[in-house]
Amino acid sequence: MMVEKQGFKHFMLKEIYEQPGVVRACLEAYFTNDPSSPINLSLPVELYVDLEQIQILACGTSWHAALIGKYLIEQLAGIPTQVHYASEFRYAPSPLTANTLTIGVTQSGETADTLAALAMEKERRSGRELKYQPRLLGITNRPESTLGEMVSQIIDIHGGLEIGVAATKTFIAQLMAFYALALDLAYRRQTISPDQLEEIITSLRQIPKEIEATLERQENLIEQLAHDFAETTDFIFVGRGINFPIALEGALKLKEISYIHAEGYPAGEMKHGPIALLDAKVPVVAIAMPGNVYEKVISNAQEAKARDSRLIGVTPVNDGEAAEIFNDLLPVSNVDELLSPILTVIPLQLLAYHIAARRGLDVDQPRNLAKSVTVE
Ligand code: G6P
Repeated sequence: MMVEKQGFKHFMLKEIYEQPGVVRACLEAYFTNDPSSPINLSLPVELYVDLEQIQILACGTSWHAALIGKYLIEQLAGIPTQVHYASEFRYAPSPLTANTLTIGVTQSGETADTLAALAMEKERRSGRELKYQPRLLGITNRPESTLGEMVSQIIDIHGGLEIGVAATKTFIAQLMAFYALALDLAYRRQTISPDQLEEIITSLRQIPKEIEATLERQENLIEQLAHDFAETTDFIFVGRGINFPIALEGALKLKEISYIHAEGYPAGEMKHGPIALLDAKVPVVAIAMPGNVYEKVISNAQEAKARDSRLIGVTPVNDGEAAEIFNDLLPVSNVDELLSPILTVIPLQLLAYHIAARRGLDVDQPRNLAKSVTVE
């Protein structure tokens, strides 16, 4: 299939702009208007029955999506959830736990480490007593992939073909799959009420237009801001709670396509190391969205400012407190903290994109990286 850039300078930028449509496709696929059966993942009851634990295996950006999945599953459905790098898990698997769902997350469905970790898990559980039997679920953009052949239950993320090596729209699509899965688990286990569920689904349905508003608000602003960082050599990204994985993802995007050293950190851990790196040459990007860690992130950001770092805040629009603290603002719509990662990642994708483009780099095909890594 021939895919065009449709007037965008790079596929990555085109794919960033496709995200509202991807979220709409996921909403359409995963949620219904039928109050008696609001979530439509078509997963069999055997996957859920007596479920005690979940383990998620993934690599790269998919691993970041898995961390947000863990947050959602634990906070909404109350099921203990572990996230493993597939490349680590395959050589040092956790002890076998009973009634455990194993989820493999891979956009391409072809990443060698993720497939091998899943195959190992399937093999070591097969033939054991019922409670240890494998229960496998794949989350992928390509149900027809090797993952699809290996795992009988799949959540299709509806991302459409992604050309840019650095994942953008497939990350958002993976997040949508995790919102649907966590809500489905919570609904079945009655850890949230039907009213709460309806409220969250209603808010999710607003997200596509909030992404559009964020893109509209940000593009020129971030393109301008990127000029200042064309020569920067180090960046720190911080976030907490559900936005900590977004700090990791923001740092990864920047590394992948601009070749700038970047670290993502939980904001509260900055004082245990990264703070020693800070000075006027090291900008700090903080994700500070209203919710139970907002004041904490603001106070962590102030610690960075005291070390002369330029402070960039991913904050809600019209946040007066943030405007006083941050040197630069990347405002997103003010949504519930639980849903905020779908918005806070957008300016970080654009920041990485515009810095790389400004440096004249091959955004869609960064050096040394491959779209899917089919060797160990
Ligand atoms: C490669 C790509 C990354 C991707 C990772 C996992 O490293 O460059 O963008 O996140 O593989 O890919 P997967 O297809 O398993 O999600």
